[in-house]
Amino acid sequence: MDTVVSGIRSTGNLHLGNYFGAIKNFLKMQNENNCFFFIADYHALTTHPKPDDLHGNIKQVLAEYLACGIDPEVATVFVQSDVPEVSELYLLLNMNAYVGELERTASFKEKIRKQPDNINAGLLTYPVLMAADIIIHKANKVPVGKDQEQHLEMTRRFARRFNMMYSVSYFPEPDAYNFGKQLIKIPGLDGTGKMGKSEGNGIFLADSPQEIKKKVMRAVTDTGPTAPDQEPSEPVKNLFTIMNVVSEPSTVKHFTDSYAACTIRYGDLKKQLTEDIVKFTEPIRVRINDILNDKVYLHKVVSAGAEKARESASKTVREVREIIGYRPF
Ligand code: TRP
Repeated sequence: MDTVVSGIRSTGNLHLGNYFGAIKNFLKMQNENNCFFFIADYHALTTHPKPDDLHGNIKQVLAEYLACGIDPEVATVFVQSDVPEVSELYLLLNMNAYVGELERTASFKEKIRKQPDNINAGLLTYPVLMAADIIIHKANKVPVGKDQEQHLEMTRRFARRFNMMYSVSYFPEPDAYNFGKQLIKIPGLDGTGKMGKSEGNGIFLADSPQEIKKKVMRAVTDTGPTAPDQEPSEPVKNLFTIMNVVSEPSTVKHFTDSYAACTIRYGDLKKQLTEDIVKFTEPIRVRINDILNDKVYLHKVVSAGAEKARESASKTVREVREIIGYRPF
């Protein structure tokens, strides 16, 4: 059984792409491993959120993950800032993280380009905090997307460096969690590319049926097939890809056939797609709202999660302090 750590960005609002990409796999992963899922709300401070926004985002993203089926009875679900031990390990690891290597990190260089007026030290040492998040639970697996691969590589390096420095084999070097068959990529509604929060092309799990309808009806299509068995254009293919995950196979077949026969009406396709997306997301949306309104439940989840996470984290910090040479008198 592997120990898996996954940090979740606290900017909430999960969309269908998140659901069919990562989250569906998380639901399976949590049953097969010792999973730690946490909301990365220390990392969130690099963008200087207002206190109310910070809290609201943490709550929202937590409710959304729980509504999707992340099970706090099975996995350890917690909020990063409830586990102050991570900040101590972060401090200790910072002493062996070199400014040069941090400055060369792709995500840092991108921040310099994108927000030159807020290059704070937290951004520079972001990979160190992420490493602390992971190795504090001595994780050996981390589910990461392409954009996080370099951070995971740095985590391995920091773990290895600690082990070498103190001639111990204390920290495992974590690998990427392999989801087996290729991750499903859900496209956006704007014709090209995948669904993303910042792209403004997504359907969020918390969207109302009216919002979903508006978005689907506005989705990019084309002028329609003109010859039998014509290859659909990318925007139309994208709608079929979404239909494939939310609709019945018979529905998909109906529209695939009518496309091939050139009798398809995109209006009908969109109407059906709207209906099926609503059918899929509606129970999740209801659960999100129920959870958001259930203060007692949320409190219970985060306090139990913090307790479990602190147990594992404080053990590591105690042992690390001992290894480093902080000893009782
Ligand atoms: N950096 C990750 C992201 O942007 C979030 C994260 C923080 C994380 N700490 C982590 C992911 C630890 C995995 C493990 O998505």
